[in-house]
Amino acid sequence: MSEQLFANQDQRVQRLLQIAVDLASTLNINELLQQILSAAVEFSHAEEASILLYDAQRRELFIRAATNDETEETLREIAVPTESIAGWVALNRQPIIVDDVHQDPRWFSQVGETLQFPTRSLLAIPMIAKEQLIGVLELLNKKEGRFNEEDLEILTVLSAQAAVVIQTAQLFAQSDQISTLVHELRTPLASINTIAYLLQHPGLSNSKRLELTQMIQTETDRLNKMTTAFLDLARMETGRAAFNWSSFSLAELAQECLNLCQPRAAQLSIALSLDSPPGLPAVLADRDKIKQVLLNLLNNAVQYNHPGGQVTLHLRHQDAAFELRVQDTGPGIPPEDLPKLFTKFYRAPKNEKASPGTGLGLTICKQIVESHGGKIGAESQPDVGTTFWIYLPQTPKSARVPRQLRK
Ligand SMILES: Nc1ncnc2c1ncn2[C@@H]1O[C@H](COP(=O)(O)OP(=O)(O)OP(=O)(O)O)[C@@H](O)[C@H]1O
Ligand SMILES: [Mg+2]
Repeated sequence: MSEQLFANQDQRVQRLLQIAVDLASTLNINELLQQILSAAVEFSHAEEASILLYDAQRRELFIRAATNDETEETLREIAVPTESIAGWVALNRQPIIVDDVHQDPRWFSQVGETLQFPTRSLLAIPMIAKEQLIGVLELLNKKEGRFNEEDLEILTVLSAQAAVVIQTAQLFAQSDQISTLVHELRTPLASINTIAYLLQHPGLSNSKRLELTQMIQTETDRLNKMTTAFLDLARMETGRAAFNWSSFSLAELAQECLNLCQPRAAQLSIALSLDSPPGLPAVLADRDKIKQVLLNLLNNAVQYNHPGGQVTLHLRHQDAAFELRVQDTGPGIPPEDLPKLFTKFYRAPKNEKASPGTGLGLTICKQIVESHGGKIGAESQPDVGTTFWIYLPQTPKSARVPRQLRK
């Protein structure tokens, strides 16, 4: 019997070492969280597991991942109160076993309700790295029997490993993003510096002087747009952006966006039109954010078009989803560049100098559309034009989280 126990323990230690190696092999936070969850479920024989991460700035715990992958988006919206069991674990930095959550007044039932997952028992362990609280690992419903000391012991080891790798991944993501931003800010700063130097020349004509000061204005505008857009994006990527869900007409919003683009389109002799069937149902979404997406796609279609070209916005509704297509008659995008469009700071090499853009517009669009449970993509034919398409569910899951739980 005890030999059997030792054999099991040996296997467990082996497995823990293997997991440590696996965890060290990626810096992708989503992949890491999923690996931690499956290891935790494997060790504890629990039905489900979830990871809550601590947001030090907001001093709140947010559910960040769960074994039930499909519900991930819904979960990310939920801030867990300090008075909950996970809140207690985080505050006291102590693990806890609760055999029957319904007997515990701290039980935060909304999560289970959102997931439609009936929780009975729970094991929660704080994840701490270098004395810093990273989050809480929760195991729900032991398949047989109760969570015990042995589960607690092995999951404490796993949690400590998990905390270190999550912290490393978080720091890496931050430094990587910031170094990209700094790199991108250097270009406009270098231009401003050169212009300032040129402006010191006494023999400059008035018209040249005016041209140079206008260039400073363009570059500072771009710096400004870039930092605002970068912060917007960072807020969404870390799940801290607030979404204001409401029900509204997409056709009306589309018309509003076309009207806003009209002056710029007229300057470039580009015709704008809307192709939308009558009687479309309302969509449940964040109106301002969808407006931001449409404006960016329309502005791109106008900006990167030939004079005398056309831009058409097509709207369709089918199977509880909307399809939006922004079609232009511009120069098109080479097939090899299509996958790069939605990455940060990407601007087609030939536009890089001419356009005042930041290269963040489409990355923001993708983030917004995906936060609505939708998809975005592009098709293009060189010399014919480009079409950006969006599939938007009529009622995204993330909008169903009760208002008081949303960030
Ligand atoms: N409709 C289009 N036709 C051709 N090229 C496009 C089109 N839309 C975008 N692009 C290319 O993709 C790049 C990225 O677009 P994105 O909207 O992300 O940034 P931007 O327009 O440069 O900057 P911002 O939108 O922040 O002002 C553009 O610089 C352009 O080179
Ligand atoms: Mg753009």
